[in-house]
Amino acid sequence: PTTGLFQSGGLSSLAVGVWLRETSTPARHYIADIGQSDPAELQELATSLRHSGAEVVTVDLRAPMAEVASDLLRYRARHDGGYWNTTGASRLVLTSELLPRMRADGCETFVHGCVGGGNDQRRFARYGAQLAPEMSRVEPWTDHRALGRFPDRAAMMKAVADHGLRLDRGSSADRSTDANLAGASHESAELEDLETPVTRLRPRWSAWPHEAPPEPQTVTVVVRDGRIADVDGSGPDPVEWMALANTIGARHGVWLRDVVERRIVGTVCRGIYESPGLELLERAWTRVLQAGLDAAGRELYDRLSAVLGAAMYEGRWLEPAARAAREAADRLVGDLSGTVTLSVHRGVVRPEGMKVASHVVRQTRFGSGGNRWSGEGGGDA
Ligand code: ARG
Repeated sequence: PTTGLFQSGGLSSLAVGVWLRETSTPARHYIADIGQSDPAELQELATSLRHSGAEVVTVDLRAPMAEVASDLLRYRARHDGGYWNTTGASRLVLTSELLPRMRADGCETFVHGCVGGGNDQRRFARYGAQLAPEMSRVEPWTDHRALGRFPDRAAMMKAVADHGLRLDRGSSADRSTDANLAGASHESAELEDLETPVTRLRPRWSAWPHEAPPEPQTVTVVVRDGRIADVDGSGPDPVEWMALANTIGARHGVWLRDVVERRIVGTVCRGIYESPGLELLERAWTRVLQAGLDAAGRELYDRLSAVLGAAMYEGRWLEPAARAAREAADRLVGDLSGTVTLSVHRGVVRPEGMKVASHVVRQTRFGSGGNRWSGEGGGDA
């Protein structure tokens, strides 16, 4: 096949696979493991596709996905309302890793199942043009023939059932989930209505705070040279510490962002996000920043974070401005180290203590400030 399909196992990419087949376009389905579900589920997806006659390639991309998740944290590259840009991050990883692979396999065209009007079409378009300019891009959900064949999600559900395809458990006629090691995003018509309480959501991994264990848990996070080096004995491999931080955050109800988000095309839309690991680790990372940067450094870091949050959201991570922002941020945080102990309990994360390995801030002993209220005057502050 000369067409490569980004196959997530969600409803619309499965339907795109069916459509390609019905229009006699030979396609190879590329399934990437980016930590969206357990490997057995991805195996079932691949098997069901092969049964239906599709050619399937599976690729383990958990390591690059975890690297980018680590960057999201290092730069605090969040969008509007604290969304960790987990979907934007996965588009960066998928295109960077799979487009070269598709090209090497002889594909001249790539196809994805992202629906019209969403951010993901823009991200695939931008990264595609940058990373594989000689490949052409097909977007079935902007094509009236595909839309005619699949006018709604119910029609897609029927095709998936008819072909015996294994649908991702977060996907249905009225729900869509996009997930990876860094977190999950949830969408549905019901949740888009701002009158719908967020508790109507069925989280993919996480407990709600009221369902979390009554006992707090203590977690020790080691930061070395501006990166997570260990979470409670996980070791420095980002796949390991991300997974462990996810498990702990999910169990204790630390994960939720319910935001009203401004999309690339200008629409304003509700988004609900589940990022247990990043939410948890952010508290530790912020402590390290607070202890390690002076006021001007901190202000610059926050500005760079905003630039990088927008760049990840918009699919501009590889462009010169984002590269320059990362280099500047690296200079600020590249030598920050410290160990932070967190207490995690029913949706609340609290720093319990910190051993500072690097800090520019001279500690002021309480009461020795030498001002007229300190009583002693002439301190060493
Ligand atoms: N609004 C989010 C973003 O643009 C998530 C999009 C994908 N979500 C989904 N459930 N399919 O990054």
